[in-house]
Amino acid sequence: METKNAKVLITGANRGIGKAVAKRLAEDQAHLYLAIRKNDPQLVEEMKKAGAASVQIIESDLSSRAGVEKLIQQTQGLNIDILFNNAGLLTGGLFEEQPIDDILSMLQVNVDALIHLTHGLLPGMLSRKRGKIINHSSVSGIMHLPCASTYAASKAAVLAFSNCLKQELKDSGVSTLVLITPGVKTRMFDQIEPLYGKNIEVPKDTITPERYAEMIREAIVEDLTELSPSGTTGFALGMARHVPRLFDFAVSLKFKR
Ligand SMILES: NC(=O)c1ccc[n+]([C@@H]2O[C@H](COP(=O)([O-])OP(=O)(O)OC[C@H]3O[C@@H](n4cnc5c(N)ncnc54)[C@H](OP(=O)(O)O)[C@@H]3O)[C@@H](O)[C@H]2O)c1
Repeated sequence: METKNAKVLITGANRGIGKAVAKRLAEDQAHLYLAIRKNDPQLVEEMKKAGAASVQIIESDLSSRAGVEKLIQQTQGLNIDILFNNAGLLTGGLFEEQPIDDILSMLQVNVDALIHLTHGLLPGMLSRKRGKIINHSSVSGIMHLPCASTYAASKAAVLAFSNCLKQELKDSGVSTLVLITPGVKTRMFDQIEPLYGKNIEVPKDTITPERYAEMIREAIVEDLTELSPSGTTGFALGMARHVPRLFDFAVSLKFKR
C-alpha cells in the first residue's frame, strides 16, 4: 500500500517502535492519528517537521474495554487506511513469580485491545475495500523461552489471530501484516534483562527503532503479510518453527531455575 497521504492510526506512538514508524511515515507525508495516553504537543511538532500531511493526537488508554471502545468511537468517520496495533507491555520471570495483575494488564493491552480495535475498524475498511492492519507480534510468539510464558502466549495469540484474518480477508481489499519482531533497542527491550536475566541468558542483539521502522515501511509498501528477522535470530526462529525439539534442547542448556 502507498504510504503517501495514507491515514494511519498508531497505538503507542509516543516512544519506541511506534514513534519511529510514525516519524518514518511522516516523511512519506502520511496523515497521522497518534493514539497515546497523554497529549504531547512536542510530538505533534516533531511529526509535522518530519513532513506529516497532518497530525492528530487521540488521547486513549488501552488498559480497559471502555478505553478501547472510546478510541473506536473517536476514529469513526476518519476513514483510517492503516491501523498499526503496536502498543504493548512486557511480562516475564518464572511464571509463579509473575504478579497476576501484571499478567492480566499485559493481556488486555497486547491481545484484548488489539483484537477489539481491529473489530472496531475492520468493517469501515471492508466497506471502502481498502485497508491494512498491522499487528505487533514478536519472535517470542514462535520461540518459546522459559521466563517468557505469559508474554509469549500473548504474542502467539497475536500471530494466530493475524494469520486467520489474513485468510479471511483474501481479495477483500484489506490486508494484514504481522510483525515477528526481534530485539529492538527500546525501553521494553531494556526491561528484559531485569525480568528474565536471573534464570536465562538473554540475547543482546538489537537493531535501532529507526532501522526497524524503515523495514516496516518497506513491508507496508511491498504488501508483505509477515515481517520476520534474518541473520542469527532468523536462524533460531527457523529452528523453533521447523525443529522445535532441537530448539527446546538448545534453550534448556541456557536455563537455570
Ligand atoms: N523492543 C523489542 O525488542 C520488541 C520485540 C518484539 C516485540 N515488540 C513489540 O513492539 C511493540 C512496541 O514496543 P516497544 O519496544 O516500542 O516498547 P516501548 O518503548 O515500551 O513502547 C510501548 C508502547 O506501548 C504503550 N502502552 C503501554 N500500555 C498502554 C496502554 N495501557 N494504553 C496505551 N498505550 C500503552 C506505551 O505507552 P506509555 O508511554 O504511555 O506507557 C508505549 O508507547 C510492543 O507490542 C512490543 O511487544 C518489541
